[in-house]
Amino acid sequence: MSAHDLDWWRNAVVYQVYIRSFADGNGDGTGDIAGLRSKLDHLARLGVDAIWINPWYPSPLADGGYDVADYRAIDPRFGDTAQAEAFVAEAHERGIKILLDIVPNHHSDEHEWFREALAAGPGSPERERYVFRDGRGPDGAQPPNNWESMFGGPAWERVPDGQWYLHLFDVKQPDVNWEHPEIREDFERTLRFWFDRGVDGFRVDVANAMIKQPGLPDIEQGVNDVQDGGHPYLDRDDVHEVYRSWRAIGDSYDPPKVFVAEAWVPDPERLARYLRPDELQTAFSFNFLTAAWLADDLRRNIDDAIAENTAVGAPATWVLSNHDVCRHPSRLARKPEAGRGWLLDDVLDLPADPELGLRRARAATLLMLALPGTAYLYQGEEFGLPEVEDIPVEQLDDPTWELSGHSKRGRDGCRVPLPWAANEPSFGFSVNARSAGAALSDPAWLPQPEVFARHAADVQESDPDSVLHLYRDALAIRHAHPALGGGTLTWLDSPEGTLALARTSNEGESGFTALVNVSSSPVSLPEDAEVLLASGPLTARDEVPADTTVWLRQ
Ligand code: NOJ
Repeated sequence: MSAHDLDWWRNAVVYQVYIRSFADGNGDGTGDIAGLRSKLDHLARLGVDAIWINPWYPSPLADGGYDVADYRAIDPRFGDTAQAEAFVAEAHERGIKILLDIVPNHHSDEHEWFREALAAGPGSPERERYVFRDGRGPDGAQPPNNWESMFGGPAWERVPDGQWYLHLFDVKQPDVNWEHPEIREDFERTLRFWFDRGVDGFRVDVANAMIKQPGLPDIEQGVNDVQDGGHPYLDRDDVHEVYRSWRAIGDSYDPPKVFVAEAWVPDPERLARYLRPDELQTAFSFNFLTAAWLADDLRRNIDDAIAENTAVGAPATWVLSNHDVCRHPSRLARKPEAGRGWLLDDVLDLPADPELGLRRARAATLLMLALPGTAYLYQGEEFGLPEVEDIPVEQLDDPTWELSGHSKRGRDGCRVPLPWAANEPSFGFSVNARSAGAALSDPAWLPQPEVFARHAADVQESDPDSVLHLYRDALAIRHAHPALGGGTLTWLDSPEGTLALARTSNEGESGFTALVNVSSSPVSLPEDAEVLLASGPLTARDEVPADTTVWLRQ
């Protein structure tokens, strides 16, 4: 294998599959491995290099699968281990790599070890695998400290014998104790289990959590609530030891395995520490995702991410949408500053213009795919899907809704099952329902809005100007153009409110520029430029309209 092949992750386009909502192969209303296998050709034609699959392990699905009950098995609703292995092999046959998701901060409360811990009682070795403590106050009736769950409410739950356990996320997600050698060993065993089955790497869930400050002190507002290494449970320096050992495991395979960290660490310099040469290879540059739709903001966040990643020899890792954030056409449908919000709840009250949002989303995607480094796409963005902002509250599934006391809708709006066929039941989400001659037994697990018909894969396929064709064309050019993928970026002079960049590959190949018009009026094309691809139509005078990106040979 050549060095270039070994370094595939430095400039890959990775497609994220939220398996519950991708494609349903057995007609029960929930996505599964059979559905995923039936759509592999779609992904191959799209031109992605790898697929990242959100947790597909046995789980009560209290947090969409991020509450794992058994890390070395497949949830029966999604399939079984044999199907998973067949899927990995079929993807490899098409030259597509597979990344899984590992959730190291917490287990499900239905994990065997947590059940044992509850049964064994205070002071038992079983409880030491988690973070159990006595409460404060005369009867221990107050939580052990003032930490809050990321979903809202206290981060502690009291069990019948009076002790409390820590859950930084849902009450059904007890934090594990990373001081315990069995916890470390068990996660290492999980890595090897899936690596041995051909999986090429892992996305690491809340990679900046896991390690807690000894003594579990209260958070003092304004003192240790910032992430400078002094926070009691986020981005603590000892977490890097864990990744050194994981990297050594990944490197013991031929070819070596790859990791991408999900670490919402705002300071790019601290984020880059996860990417030192003996740690993880990549980490999402989320600051790009939360940039406002303004030239200065975009440019600053791009520069910061490239600078900090380059300092440690890592590629920047760009992403605009995922299963936790409001889909980018809907974030960008609001005033430019709304781009800084990442949850639907951050932007819901702002007036929205869906057509504008889609135009900007197409432009943002071409900007992202022109940047040096690796890029992640979230399922359905190739159909231009908007966030579903009005799911009836009684159908909301994200724990955020309950834990916020019904003040936040949470993340279901980006997790609605995909539309594959405009005129089929559940828009073709249940792929085999018709061909099997069966009546559709269950509707999709989250309701799909009527607007999804317009975005269905078959409608997109038949329209040459669709988002799907734009994505395919962009990925094809990105693969073929020698200046794209890895390499460097140079900013060029351009009119106020616009961005112009030139790309050079590591081998010195150039000839590619991109012009992103983030201003509100059209701008002229540079002289002698040949348009390779545009995110939307040019004006009658061949200018680049507002909210449009063009890729140029120059
Ligand atoms: C980040 C995941 O992306 C999110 O979906 C999940 O709720 C939390 N981590 C907790 O595992």
